[in-house]
Amino acid sequence: MNNLFGRLFATIMLFTAGSAYAEVNDDLTYANYNQVKISHVYLDLSVNFEEKALTGFADLSLNWLVNDSTVIYLDTRDLKIFKVMVKNADNGWTKVNFNLAARDDVMGSKLTVDAGFQAETVRIYYQSTPVASGLQWLTPEQTAGKKYPFMFSQNQAIHARSWIPIQDTPAVRLTYNARIQTSKDLLAVMSANNEPTTARDGDYFFEMPQAIPPYLIAISVGDLHFKAMSEQTGVYAESYILDAAAEEFSDTQAMITASEALYGAYRWGRYDLLMLPPSFPFGGMENPRLSFITPTVVAGDKSLVSLIAHELAHSWSGNLVTNESWRDLWLNEGFTSYVENRIMEVVFGRDRAVMEQALGVSSLQTDLADLPANDSILYLDLQGRDPDAAFSNVPYVKGQLFLIFLEERFGRERFDPFVLSYFNSFSFQSIGTADFLAYLDKNLISKYPGVVTPEEVKEWVFGQGLPKTVPSPQSDTFTKVAELSSHWLAATKQLSDLPTANWTVHEWLYFINELPRDLANDKMVELDKQFNLTVSTNSEIAHAWYLLALNNGYDVVKPQLEQYLINIGRRKLIVPLYKKLAESDAGLTWVEAVYVKARPGYHPLAQGTIDGILTK
Ligand code: BES
Ligand code: ZN
Repeated sequence: MNNLFGRLFATIMLFTAGSAYAEVNDDLTYANYNQVKISHVYLDLSVNFEEKALTGFADLSLNWLVNDSTVIYLDTRDLKIFKVMVKNADNGWTKVNFNLAARDDVMGSKLTVDAGFQAETVRIYYQSTPVASGLQWLTPEQTAGKKYPFMFSQNQAIHARSWIPIQDTPAVRLTYNARIQTSKDLLAVMSANNEPTTARDGDYFFEMPQAIPPYLIAISVGDLHFKAMSEQTGVYAESYILDAAAEEFSDTQAMITASEALYGAYRWGRYDLLMLPPSFPFGGMENPRLSFITPTVVAGDKSLVSLIAHELAHSWSGNLVTNESWRDLWLNEGFTSYVENRIMEVVFGRDRAVMEQALGVSSLQTDLADLPANDSILYLDLQGRDPDAAFSNVPYVKGQLFLIFLEERFGRERFDPFVLSYFNSFSFQSIGTADFLAYLDKNLISKYPGVVTPEEVKEWVFGQGLPKTVPSPQSDTFTKVAELSSHWLAATKQLSDLPTANWTVHEWLYFINELPRDLANDKMVELDKQFNLTVSTNSEIAHAWYLLALNNGYDVVKPQLEQYLINIGRRKLIVPLYKKLAESDAGLTWVEAVYVKARPGYHPLAQGTIDGILTK
């Protein structure tokens, strides 16, 4: 074997040669998934909004991989476990003992079940608690409609365990079905076979026949309504945003077509979008068949729909071919950012795609300026850390740039078929960085010698920061914006002379982000007067403007900023603002008062992040 990625290959060889058990690469699970794997889960749960709890049982079907063990370790966090039973040879149920270990802050509580024989099915009666890190419960007052409560899950990275006792590792793949009971006036949806015509009767059945990792099991319950966008696609949402979302995302079908042409058939049947409340802590989450989406991207002009391309792209990178541990997150997010941008290029043209690449690179550079050096490595070292804490643009944009680097060196005529065959070769499998590198070597690097060296690949995947070979996306449109901006800054042009009438949101973002951090107050006033930026209804433009305003002490934005922080819980949009405010005593005092009002509406994950920023 050529000594390409020696360290990783050596590890694999050691395991395959020396041990009876398969390797365990995920440090963030208690599961002994090299001895026994869950192959199917049946969830029977009722949704109790008063108690903020899911109550019922989970049947876990087990696939034993070894002969010499009868014990299964499961992940849980803040669950009440009432009773554990196993199915015996004559299909009856026998109660068995279990042990729930002390709670670890990152990993939760290990649940040990030993039936004394290799049980095929384990049934666990349990209840989630109001503090479940993977669920958010909204009161009717916290919803747009004000009449009905709302609940949704967010499992990635390790929050499935807060509402299902499970092997909470992406290395395990399982099918599932579920019965969900709730009140009659609410609709439940899951990352499974949602039928748009389901009777609204409070008793819902779901089936997900394709094997997925547990972080992709998802549920939401609320006053949801459905609107079709095409045969295959549609939107679930509260009424207030249903039509607007269906209009905003009307290119979803075209995005599927574009992706299929490049990367092969969409494997999952329907593709629907679920609009969540603005407290959803992410932009989107690629729950299979039903992506969860923040309402902050419904801008009215399709300017932020790359988010849909992104979540859809996960139907190939992430859901079909899955990272086997959170160290390998770049395999999910880097590939997805790359595929997302290819989809955007087909549907909206090359100019927009390049602008989005360039904006991505700027956000990456902002992150790199602050990150510990080791967190700038693609193959992340999590060392028992909370994966949420290591979250940055590195797996996304550095991963994407690595793939653009390969694309440019090999040419699309060779790179596109490579990516297609990568998805096909590993479909419905969970793989690690080493698997990818071996595949890359065999099918690209060694196949076409002299194009990319092993050292170059190594630097991308295991090196800190950005390698020498980093591509630098050049947008002519942005170059023009930069010229105009410098004219205004040098007072050789008036603001009113800038041809901004037809600027896209991307140009505005670039313009605002590139303005100096020490702009004189009269310049800020002038900008605001001319363009009304403080009252922008585009969530990204408002974010960029508020950040600039805070950097320049332009306090006029404060009342609007307060509303923004209270209404939006998407971490990417609020975290940089809290961080900036916390840098000064005056800012901290002001934002602490705002946070008192904002916190109750935030998701547990966002609460945790902001608590951390404000108590430093
Ligand atoms: N899968 C991610 C969200 C995620 C990543 C949750 C890691 C927990 C841990 C999702 O696909 C995503 O990347 N969302 C981005 C959107 C995007 C366009 C970069 C987001 O939420 O901002
Ligand atoms: Zn993603």
